Amino acid sequence: MRYATSSAQITKSRVQALIVGIYQDGSLSAAAEAVNTATQGRIQAVIKRQDFKGKKAQTMLLQDLDGIRAPRILLVGLGKTEPMKPESYLAIATAAIAQLKGLNARKVLYCLTDTEVEGRDLAWVAMKTVEQFEDATYQYLTMKGTKPAADRQLKLAQVDLYASREHLTACKKGMQQGTALSIGKRAAKDLGNAPSNVCTPSFLADAARQLAKDYPSVKTQVLNEKQMEKLGMGAFLSVSKGSVEPGKMITMHYRGGNPRQKPHVIIGKGITFDTGGISLKPGSGMWEMIYDMCGAASVFGTMQAIAELNPEINVVGIMAAAENMPSGNASKPGDIVKTMSGQTVEILNTDAEGRLVLCDALTYADKFNPASVIDIATLTGACVIALGSHATAVFANDDDLAQEVIDAGNLSHDRAWRLPIWEDYQSQINSAFADMQNIGGREAGSITAACFLARFAKKYRWAHLDIAGTGFKWAGMKKGSTGRPVGLLTQYLLAQEGKKS
Ligand code: BES
Ligand code: MN
Ligand code: ZN
Repeated sequence: MRYATSSAQITKSRVQALIVGIYQDGSLSAAAEAVNTATQGRIQAVIKRQDFKGKKAQTMLLQDLDGIRAPRILLVGLGKTEPMKPESYLAIATAAIAQLKGLNARKVLYCLTDTEVEGRDLAWVAMKTVEQFEDATYQYLTMKGTKPAADRQLKLAQVDLYASREHLTACKKGMQQGTALSIGKRAAKDLGNAPSNVCTPSFLADAARQLAKDYPSVKTQVLNEKQMEKLGMGAFLSVSKGSVEPGKMITMHYRGGNPRQKPHVIIGKGITFDTGGISLKPGSGMWEMIYDMCGAASVFGTMQAIAELNPEINVVGIMAAAENMPSGNASKPGDIVKTMSGQTVEILNTDAEGRLVLCDALTYADKFNPASVIDIATLTGACVIALGSHATAVFANDDDLAQEVIDAGNLSHDRAWRLPIWEDYQSQINSAFADMQNIGGREAGSITAACFLARFAKKYRWAHLDIAGTGFKWAGMKKGSTGRPVGLLTQYLLAQEGKKS
């Protein structure tokens, strides 16, 4: 999709559809008012007939109104006139975009950008609008052998966002930010959706190398298993050794700030397929574990969004990539391994592998002298039970960092909710034979997983995001990677620009 901003006269615009908003009390947005005036009151006449009541997210399509150049007018209900909540704007934009997708219109002028949203500026509205158009029109077609029939292909190709002349700069800024973010989100979705016979650890490494070729601000470095062995990453290797696909620790450096500025590190769980290993998962639904690298994909997508936006910060993105397989070489329940930190782990369940690859990545991250470290992982099924698919779980060893992450989630509407990692829970992962065990029993499964990681993140400000419920959807034809939390992470990183570290 192409995006542009426009402050040209709405009624004269040479587009195939105009999108204008109307409130529930019958009052018109500025754009709707312009259409109404040019058509000698046709909009008011429609409202009077009471088929269209301006209810939040209600839509109605009008055609061929005299006095307007565009052949289609999409009326969109804005609800009550009171200040609109951000989520209301998103629901309204979603409804409008859903209608546009079904039309035979190639170019449209979207005028809902003049909507006032509580606590948000026009740049936010423009950014979210682009993001929503991109989310709504995303399809994963890479693996299709046949192209969709012509009548099922999307006609929409260009969206002009309307802004009055004095608001044009803000609108353009938001549009550009939305475009950059969407490029990153799309990359995250594409990687997430790629099945595990394509998306292997080596595939992720190649993608990261390509990113460095595409953006001069990015440098990529890949550790192979031999190099990880030298570093003592016994926990990571205990997972990757069961697979014929070699594991990779993939580091992407974005340098936009002063070289002396401490970097922010983001680490993604990159299990390209999680069978459970010798503690094999049940067969039904096992395919979902192609998404077990969505954390790594979100790191990749965030690095790309940041490289597009070029903020003056330094970021290190790490993808801890391995395949978790049962085999003659695989780890067995009861095995004890030594992590890079020197601490030992009793592997009581080989299906709790995410924490094993992440703990060595967390120790590795210390060498970058980080200002903050955030890891992102589809870590626990328990997280889906606790928070469902709306909120990402956030855990942190620093209250300010936790709040910054939550704030970034609220602003990007990629929301996160905090759970505790109190010392009280730590005893659940104590082990008789090793320094800790990799499972903590049925109670508080997401928390004990986070407590495990906390033991490797003592040297810096750290947060852990469990995206088991938010990283992907598993239902039927709507299944797929969501690209979350690229929005949250990008927002968090942009907020670090200009801060002392
Ligand atoms: N990748 C899974 C967690 C998961 C499950 C993510 C469902 C998304 C949807 C993880 O590696 C796993 O298997 N966790 C186990 C941990 C348990 C053995 C302590 C789980 O949640 O059952
Ligand atoms: Mn697992
Ligand atoms: Zn897993």
